[in-house]
Amino acid sequence: MAIEPKQVLYNALAGFTPVRNQLRRIRDRSRPPDYAGIVNYTLKRLQVRREFIGDDGIRGASLLEIGSGQEFGLGLLLVAFGARRVVNVEIEPYGFISDPALYRLLVEKARAEGLEIRWPPAGLQVSSNGRSVRPDPEKIVLHLGCSAETIPEPDCSFDATFSVAVLEHIRGGAMPRVAREPYRLTRPGGAGYHRVDLVDHYTRAVDPLRFLRYSPRQYDLMFGNRGSSLNRMRMDDHVKRTKAAKVRYQFNSMPSRTALPREDTTPPEDG
Ligand SMILES: C[S@@+](CC[C@H](N)C(=O)[O-])C[C@H]1O[C@@H](n2cnc3c(N)ncnc32)[C@H](O)[C@@H]1O
Repeated sequence: MAIEPKQVLYNALAGFTPVRNQLRRIRDRSRPPDYAGIVNYTLKRLQVRREFIGDDGIRGASLLEIGSGQEFGLGLLLVAFGARRVVNVEIEPYGFISDPALYRLLVEKARAEGLEIRWPPAGLQVSSNGRSVRPDPEKIVLHLGCSAETIPEPDCSFDATFSVAVLEHIRGGAMPRVAREPYRLTRPGGAGYHRVDLVDHYTRAVDPLRFLRYSPRQYDLMFGNRGSSLNRMRMDDHVKRTKAAKVRYQFNSMPSRTALPREDTTPPEDG
């Protein structure tokens, strides 16, 4: 497939962190955060985790979420649902929201949907002037700007580790370390749940496997620096890794490497 110059340019700009952060600041100043949208999405995220992990897997459990995003609303809902402790690991340092208004709206909506939660919810601390909130470290920890390659938590401290739509974004070189961390962190008998989206995120509706037709070099030139960059691993590449890590994982149903042309499915190099 031919290289698209526009994508190469976007990718080059995304490679400069100061430029990327400045663009985000401009975007955030020009557009107030959509709290209603964030709240609806957070409620959906709880639903996905309940279906995936199961309510019994959440209640009373110590949970680790890899690639959690920057806010701790989902942690609050999981705690309200009965989780003992929730730890979030997110590589992006930017975007934490400390405005109580967001979390008040979340509590209101979650209550309306039948969750037993009231203000201030367990896991949330309000500052003395009432203007900002943060997670209560006894219940919720948010490791922002931290790669899941090295998670600052003790061995065997979780009943379950999970990620949703994250493992496909882990840079190739980081993958072996990211696959090993859940094994170190999960107690014997604990479980791992990882939902992986294995299609091209830009052309999923029209051509879901388009990204596999670029050579590794072409893909890197066009998408390698972007937050949405994909490692292009197939289901069996993930299974191979996670077997090595001896963690029980679940995958959504996606094409395996054997179903695809060989030259298009080069897995990332080990780091
Ligand atoms: C598509 S988002 C999914 C966010 C969230 N799990 C959800 O369900 O909405 C992928 C997330 O993984 C994070 N991520 C990518 N590589 C990571 C790494 N090595 N360590 C921790 N987080 C990472 C990204 O910054 C991003 O927030």
